[in-house]
Amino acid sequence: MWKDLDISVVRCDSEKRKDKPDQKNLGFGKFFTDHMFLMKWDRENGWHNAEICPYQNFSMDPAAMVYHYGQAIFEGLKAYKGENDQIYMFRPEDNLERMNSSALRMCMPRIPVDKVLKGIKALVYLDRDWIPSGDGATLYLRPTMVAVEPALGVRPSSQYYFFVIMSPVGAYYAEGFNPTKIWVTDKYVRAVKGGVGHVKTAGNYAASIMAAEEAHRAGYTQVLWLDACERKYIEEVGTSNIFFKIGEDLITPPLNGSILGGITRDSVIQLARSWGVNVIEKQITIDEVLAAIEDGSLKEAFGSGTAAVIAPIGELCYQEKKHVVADGKTGELSQRLFDELQAIQNGRQDDPFKWIVRVG
Ligand code: COI
Repeated sequence: MWKDLDISVVRCDSEKRKDKPDQKNLGFGKFFTDHMFLMKWDRENGWHNAEICPYQNFSMDPAAMVYHYGQAIFEGLKAYKGENDQIYMFRPEDNLERMNSSALRMCMPRIPVDKVLKGIKALVYLDRDWIPSGDGATLYLRPTMVAVEPALGVRPSSQYYFFVIMSPVGAYYAEGFNPTKIWVTDKYVRAVKGGVGHVKTAGNYAASIMAAEEAHRAGYTQVLWLDACERKYIEEVGTSNIFFKIGEDLITPPLNGSILGGITRDSVIQLARSWGVNVIEKQITIDEVLAAIEDGSLKEAFGSGTAAVIAPIGELCYQEKKHVVADGKTGELSQRLFDELQAIQNGRQDDPFKWIVRVG
């Protein structure tokens, strides 16, 4: 595992290793493993000092540019423990390539995908005892890049940290795989075309928190965003993309610049098409969705994302009116997609799309 790894490895002292959390109460992103990956970039040296090291605090100058102007991008991907404790990761290269697209838009440096992937695999292997094996529990990896040059001018930083931390997680939503209740907002918007809505940058999430808080206060799990100009076209849910099964079609908004190109979204599209489902990427308005609920043609709706996997939707609330979706139950297609994705991710099922990467 360590040979040809041009990355130094400093192991955590055994007495400093943390106790593993109870696998039944993991929640999401509350516990962190013993090690992390870290590398640094500056204009003179490019990426350097790549290391796997004990999980640790950073000491950063209070003028570090990320604190002021938010030059920060991140990814989310998972490692799974399958039969015979074989470890798998799901489409990790796609996450790292997407990070490079985010870097381009945010004027940050590209990461070397092959080297980082090697480092991530070695990191996962080193902390393999942290990968939970319970139902739906996985090890969530968070690659992140932040601007660290101490300077107050608004311009690209000349220094960055790239790091990967890992967290054993259960289901993202308290509902688990049960249908979620979604709050459709026409008061706030998430992103405009030409902006950074398609980029996995921290600011998009910061800007979403107020609407999410209002949704939570009203008893809803997440926010469904509409387009910023006309406030009628469906965009995405807080932490996932969205799909509607209307009649025999599976409809999802197109990647038109203001929504995130989810890797789970792409996996859903490929899987569903391979089963003969007619998947259509097209603009759809909230009124069309509500009309389809009304006339019974909307059979199911669900969100898709790395953290959320497949999150069935049981209710939409729009302009203070509640609309029950699919009798508030999990639809057949949502269930099939969830089961199949999990089976592929855990190595229990053939992987016709070559999405799985073995670790160790
Ligand atoms: C993911 O699904 O991995 C995400 O990044 C969403 C997250 C903000 C929880």
